[in-house]
Amino acid sequence: MKEYFKHDPWKVIEEGFDPHMNKVAESIFSIGNGRMGQRANFEEQYSGETLPGSYVAGVYYPDKTRVGWWKNGYPEYFAKVLNAPNWINLHIAIEGQPLDLAKCKVESFRRELDMKTGILTRLYIASLPDGKRLEVNASRFCSMADDEIGAIKFSLTPLNFSGSITVVSGIDADVVNMDSNYDEKFWNEVYKDASRDQAVVTAETKKTLFHVCCGSTVSVVQKGKEVSLKQSSVTKEKFAAFQFELPINEGESTVIYKYAAILSSENHKKEELVAQCRTQLDYARQRGYEKLRDAHVKIWTDKWNECDITIEGDVGAQQGIRFNIFQLSQTYTGKDQRLNIGPKGFTGEKYGGSTYWDTEAYCLPFYLGTADQKVARNLLVYRHKHLQRAIENAGKLGFTNGAALYPMVTMNGEECHNEWEITFEEIHRNGAIAYAIFDYIRYTGDNDYLVEYGLEVLIGISRFWAQRVNWSDDKSRYVMLGVTGPNEYENNVNNNWYTNLIAKWTLSYTLESIEYVRGKDESVFNRLIQSLKFEVQEETKKWKDIGDKMYFPEDKHRGIFLQQDGFLDKVIKPVSQLGKGDRPLNQKWSWDRILRSCYIKQADVLQGLYFFEDQFDQDSIKRNFDFYEPITVHESSLSPCVHSILAASLGYQDKAYEMYVRTARLDLDDYNNDTEDGCHITSMAGTWLSITKGFGGLRIVDDQIHLHPFIPGQWQSYSFKLEFRGQVIKVNVSQASVDVTLEEGKELGIVIYGQPFVLTDKVSSPIR
Ligand code: BGC
Repeated sequence: MKEYFKHDPWKVIEEGFDPHMNKVAESIFSIGNGRMGQRANFEEQYSGETLPGSYVAGVYYPDKTRVGWWKNGYPEYFAKVLNAPNWINLHIAIEGQPLDLAKCKVESFRRELDMKTGILTRLYIASLPDGKRLEVNASRFCSMADDEIGAIKFSLTPLNFSGSITVVSGIDADVVNMDSNYDEKFWNEVYKDASRDQAVVTAETKKTLFHVCCGSTVSVVQKGKEVSLKQSSVTKEKFAAFQFELPINEGESTVIYKYAAILSSENHKKEELVAQCRTQLDYARQRGYEKLRDAHVKIWTDKWNECDITIEGDVGAQQGIRFNIFQLSQTYTGKDQRLNIGPKGFTGEKYGGSTYWDTEAYCLPFYLGTADQKVARNLLVYRHKHLQRAIENAGKLGFTNGAALYPMVTMNGEECHNEWEITFEEIHRNGAIAYAIFDYIRYTGDNDYLVEYGLEVLIGISRFWAQRVNWSDDKSRYVMLGVTGPNEYENNVNNNWYTNLIAKWTLSYTLESIEYVRGKDESVFNRLIQSLKFEVQEETKKWKDIGDKMYFPEDKHRGIFLQQDGFLDKVIKPVSQLGKGDRPLNQKWSWDRILRSCYIKQADVLQGLYFFEDQFDQDSIKRNFDFYEPITVHESSLSPCVHSILAASLGYQDKAYEMYVRTARLDLDDYNNDTEDGCHITSMAGTWLSITKGFGGLRIVDDQIHLHPFIPGQWQSYSFKLEFRGQVIKVNVSQASVDVTLEEGKELGIVIYGQPFVLTDKVSSPIR
């Protein structure tokens, strides 16, 4: 854990420049707008350690699978999130010397992300090798209002000299992915031009043939007036830019505005891209930086109004939750049904694909609670659209009769993960897709979703489970062999408790849903069973039987569920007894050693207890928590939030707080020593969950919001808002009371500490 960034309620601040932390900072200060995003790389040249990253949503490259030993069933490719053409570059030379912080003496440096406004700034004073000192103040944003536009304001002031600078600025599509499997470049040039003040490049991805067209234009202001520039064009392969020279005077600022338009063939006809890019550039330049910025800030103001969480009395915790909400909101806005929430969002390349089970298991509740119901519904419909692909995916592994296996990682519904122990075995992901349907309906009451889309998906998943289990004569039970549970530090185990549980639950939820849909609309039901060739009697009978006779490993003596068969053969030694040099295990230990150890990467049995807490009594949850928490290393970012929520419900308030901080500040403090690759976007929803479901005790029971709040001793108060079935409530918890206000809507029944209230304006209850 590194405490590098300064604490502040609304800002993330880097004070002083540490080149070793630059890649971490580039991830942390990433900005985006749901349509595109940008790591916090410098505009000017930088020859030090950096991970350049510009990303355009939905654009990917199917990089040929690279594995040591090919196994039948492996997907042909891994969908790489592409490093897209770079639009931020603004290279500056001062009388021939490049402005490059790796070669300058950095006298002062401050990088700051204002989360309230979504604006990134850098302010520094540097001296060049020949002693020339200058001050730079650079700001930029990816416009939330005009989501194909990015804008930069770059101000430079010579402090002890007058002279001239040369600026080169444009679009560079000659970019690479660090994680390319064969060191291949993924882009071909389609078009480039630098004329009429506009540098424009269209690049095409190999194989997938996406077109991304980027353009830029600059204007310069000195002494408050726009300077007329004598620009000469600079073009080379996949690169178009302008070069110009300017005199600069000691103590006087030169302000360079760069406007960029970033468009993709996902949203425009290929043949119209260039023209529309030029139109966007004209528009951006005409509006100017300030107006574009104001429109962008207005969207952030509205967003914060919907989903801010306040914490009084703990700046680190406050900054953490806002950072997480900020990142989630700029990754996925819910506007485009084709998009999803990639684990790295727009902050890095690692992981590839855009969709993991993270969306359903972690992110969905955040969007349910903070956005219009349509946003969450879109996330479910996204999976419905991929159902055929999930069926094909299962088919490749030998499953038949419409069994669906949703991919571990995907861009378009096809599986693209390629490690056998995950691709073939980490099948619990399928259950999360089913669980999300249940979770969505529980929250919204939108039962029609089942009729329209949900049941079809549930049947596909249930068919998969029914084929994936086998009857064990020895145990007289159904078992599930050769799986990997959520804890990826165990592979190819038998009877992972969580997987068996979610499979059994899916079967029973599907049976219930069949009854619901049949009762609601017989003709829809009949059409569905015909199109699915669903043998109602036979298949449902089998599912019921599996549900009734599923095997679950447990240790009756300890009163715990076993993560998998044989778990207790391991040497059980708490994480607290590991040396500091052992962590993170995945960077310090051999895989073999990890697999044999008892250490758990992320919530596994506890994930099941979190999802299905109603099925277990508190004592049982407590015994399992007491057993598993001390041996969990939380080396998946998805883990601590589940522990935080369970700890809160068990009354382990210190643990709940510790796990909250770990979730909330995971990237800010680089807990897992991997933030340089990008931020852990999907787990950020877990921070929101830790506060609402954990500290707030939020549950939806029988169509009503239930709250059971506690407040950590360090905090004076905290508050969050919830959208619930067209109404909005604000929950404020102080050391003395819980106050709930109805902010939108007329009347809402809610339950606080088990006591029902009718909320028309405000209700209060003393804190317990
Ligand atoms: C976790 C998975 C998760 C993936 C993407 C892995 O480290 O173990 O559960 O889906 O990261 O976030």
